[in-house]
Amino acid sequence: MFRYFYIPLIAIFLFTACNNGSTNKTVPVKSVSLVAERDVHTLSNADSVQFQHLDLDIAVDMGAKRINGSATWTINNNKKAKTLKLDTYDLNIDSVAVDGTKTTFVLDSPVKHLGSALQIPITVSSSMVKIWYKTGKNAKALQWLDPAQTHDKKHPFLYTQSESIYARSWIPCADGPGIRFTYAARVKVPRGLMALMSAENPQQVSDSGAYRFRMDIPIPAYLMALAVGDITFKSIDERTGVYAEPGMIEKSRYEFEDAGKMVKTAEQLYGPYRWGRYDIIVLPPGFPIGGMENPRLTFCTPTVIAGDRSLVSLIAHELAHSWSGNLVTNATWNDFWLNEGFTNYFERRITEQMMGKSYADMLWELGYQDFTVIVNDLGATSRDTWLKMDLKGRDPDDGFSDIPYEKGSHFLKLIELNVGRERFDQFLSKYFNEHAFKTISTAEFLVYLDSNLIKDDTVLRRKLDINAWVFGPGIPANCPRAGQERFMKVDEQRDFFLNDTAAAQLVTKDWTTHEWLHFLRNMPPALSGRQMKQLDDQFHFTKTGNSEIADVWFVMAVRAKYTPAYAAMDQFLSSVGRRKFLEPLYGEMVKTPDGMDMAHRIYEKYRKNYHPIAQESIDKILAKKG
Ligand code: BES
Ligand code: ZN
Repeated sequence: MFRYFYIPLIAIFLFTACNNGSTNKTVPVKSVSLVAERDVHTLSNADSVQFQHLDLDIAVDMGAKRINGSATWTINNNKKAKTLKLDTYDLNIDSVAVDGTKTTFVLDSPVKHLGSALQIPITVSSSMVKIWYKTGKNAKALQWLDPAQTHDKKHPFLYTQSESIYARSWIPCADGPGIRFTYAARVKVPRGLMALMSAENPQQVSDSGAYRFRMDIPIPAYLMALAVGDITFKSIDERTGVYAEPGMIEKSRYEFEDAGKMVKTAEQLYGPYRWGRYDIIVLPPGFPIGGMENPRLTFCTPTVIAGDRSLVSLIAHELAHSWSGNLVTNATWNDFWLNEGFTNYFERRITEQMMGKSYADMLWELGYQDFTVIVNDLGATSRDTWLKMDLKGRDPDDGFSDIPYEKGSHFLKLIELNVGRERFDQFLSKYFNEHAFKTISTAEFLVYLDSNLIKDDTVLRRKLDINAWVFGPGIPANCPRAGQERFMKVDEQRDFFLNDTAAAQLVTKDWTTHEWLHFLRNMPPALSGRQMKQLDDQFHFTKTGNSEIADVWFVMAVRAKYTPAYAAMDQFLSSVGRRKFLEPLYGEMVKTPDGMDMAHRIYEKYRKNYHPIAQESIDKILAKKG
């Protein structure tokens, strides 16, 4: 048995060793001990000082687009550190007090991607460190919306997006996924607006504009979240509900009707939901991502409100993070697949339970297609296609791709197929339970997998070929592929169309969004204007209210120079800030000189509507080819 066990361990050992990790914990494995990898994305010294609790007292100035207030950290310094080091990014530090006495502090010069370490002298008995601060103009976590950028266009709005390392741009903190703390917050906002956090939340607007929050379960900084705006609440069931701007609340409530059922389904799979309530906030369209698993309150893009509940697997995904991610958290951003790969797998299991196998198989297959596309884009030997990432010296955001999601979830699917669903589910439930409210690294997971599931089964170990998945590039030869039952019918109809069957003759009755996506995505590179028109006349893609379909269609329109879709595309790009949609669209435009002009023209108009992290991505796309 040792022969096969040996290979992954050596790989783990070499990998962590060359990552230059400082020892903060060792993991004994059989006779080998693994040095845990240091989190290279925090400048804090949470390995020496315990950050236990955060007391946040802030005022949100919507006019000045600034947060102003204090963060008080309860710490334990029994390791006798002489300094407390916190992460900050573009924060203005006004003053600092340790246990009630004002003290000096040093704000280091910024390190690329990471911001500036804030150094505060402490003693062994120091327990309360209070920092008065203001956020800066380049706060990466914050998007301040003018009324015109909201759905209802009446009031300003603010939301945060802290993952991966942006919490430090609105709170001085120890900003690493492996550092957990509880928090309480007092937040003052303009009268009439509601404030919500990743915590126990109000359901009504406070007359004074003052709100109090508590999160008594320790969470890492990337799950700190705040939304402020003209927001109203509607209940779904006793445990779940939806928040949105008044003009979006009914649609949102309708779309997420099954949220309560979803929580129950997830619980049946992997054990109790441990966070109390599960609510969802539907944000204005500039929200840069699809969804964010902020504890107790998923932040969600309005682009999933398709009117027919066809995109709610995103909610299954964010909900699943209540286990994979929020309960059991990746140790560093190099282990991101432990958050997202597990969550993708879990999401599809929830979906299978609620919608049936052939439906979930479509999600698996679309995911597999994304996997092949990203491996193709990055290159089949690219280091960025390993599950275990190497993000040293980079912003974790730069390493973000479908790899952790799709390679990660397909790896878990492979294990499921090999050990049987029942055994794998028992293993996962136990994994979530035993690591609840803890952090886990890739090396630790592999050891856990080996001792709890693979055990002495050398045949199984050989079959899984773990090294190829975790420490190797591309798509491993044993990658599983879902059943194609429903997509085979779609392929048939696409072939008919490409062989000149009139669009009106195609049999597309009962197709869901996923069938349409498969139909469109797998069209040849550029259709003729005539073909585009035929499809549009028959299926009205240009006018679709479904953002996923719109996005694929607009990419096709750019490729085919199908101008009748351009006005709708312009409209789409004016408000939607979701990077997943912006990137392929701008990415397609910049491929030709004409398209490049169009991209610049459009971007100039709408850049201000996008979140700082989306602006950064699109700036890069335009600069690369511009
Ligand atoms: N946690 C992620 C979002 C994220 C990842 C933010 C990395 C910042 C850095 C969230 O759970 C997620 O994966 N969202 C997806 C939706 C999902 C259905 C794949 C998204 O936003 O598209
Ligand atoms: Zn996720």
